[in-house]
Amino acid sequence: MLEQKVILITGANRGIGLTIAQVCTRLGAIVLLAGRNDAQLEIIAEQLGENAIPMAYDIADEEQVKAAFGHIKQHIGRLDGLVNNAGAMQSAPVGMTRIADLRAQLDVNTVATFQHAQLATRLMAKQQSGAIVNLCSIIGEQGSAGQAAYATSKAAVSGMTKAMAKEFAPLGVRINGVAPGFIDTDMTADFTAGQREEILANIGLGRMGNTQDVADLVSFLLSDHASYITGQIIGVDGGMRL
Ligand code: NAI
Repeated sequence: MLEQKVILITGANRGIGLTIAQVCTRLGAIVLLAGRNDAQLEIIAEQLGENAIPMAYDIADEEQVKAAFGHIKQHIGRLDGLVNNAGAMQSAPVGMTRIADLRAQLDVNTVATFQHAQLATRLMAKQQSGAIVNLCSIIGEQGSAGQAAYATSKAAVSGMTKAMAKEFAPLGVRINGVAPGFIDTDMTADFTAGQREEILANIGLGRMGNTQDVADLVSFLLSDHASYITGQIIGVDGGMRL
């Protein structure tokens, strides 16, 4: 389904990003694994096989991102897919939210996603093809008490997804968002039993999602099977209502 497509995945060292990398390589893609920990990425790349290439850089550092795309342009020469997966979540009531923490979430979730899409679309527009998938969130779509900073950063990703989809559709580049609900990863590991119970009571399908649930949709959106889909924010949330 993704035979020989070159796909850059941010935050590929664990959680949803790692499963996306596994699914994409299984479907024949050449994956570029972006993350901060060089040694860890090397190990993952080795496990995934010869079609996985580690690329260690901080996605929130503007110059490092430019250098990473310079490397892709020079040494690989094309980019068929980008998954803006890396993300940070810090929960706090509005009154207790430090502006530095708001900015940190905006840097990783919003600004880095924008810059990656900006540089990816330059390559993809020249090719007249390409697909970008941004990890949004049900919290960016519906809000959540105690998570206003995270919601701000993710709602912006939904908005940019739709705006960029309109701008790049005439150039053959598709841009979609995937909005997970409550997925079992490190990001949700600290939720208390009480919080889990409360969230699960609102999930129609009665269970937490797993990383495969999200990766299956992401890989579909990257593939040519989704060639008539752009500008959508698709929930993977088991029918969750806030
Ligand atoms: P996770 O915490 O397991 O993984 C986050 C990834 O982002 C890690 O690989 C981390 O190294 C990377 N990252 C963070 N800051 C970075 C930086 N400055 N430079 C490079 N990499 C950086 O989280 P999970 O659950 O796998 O989340 C993946 C995406 O899905 C995130 O965008 C998250 O906001 C989103 N999401 C997750 C949900 C969940 O229930 N787990 C629900 C809704 C959205």
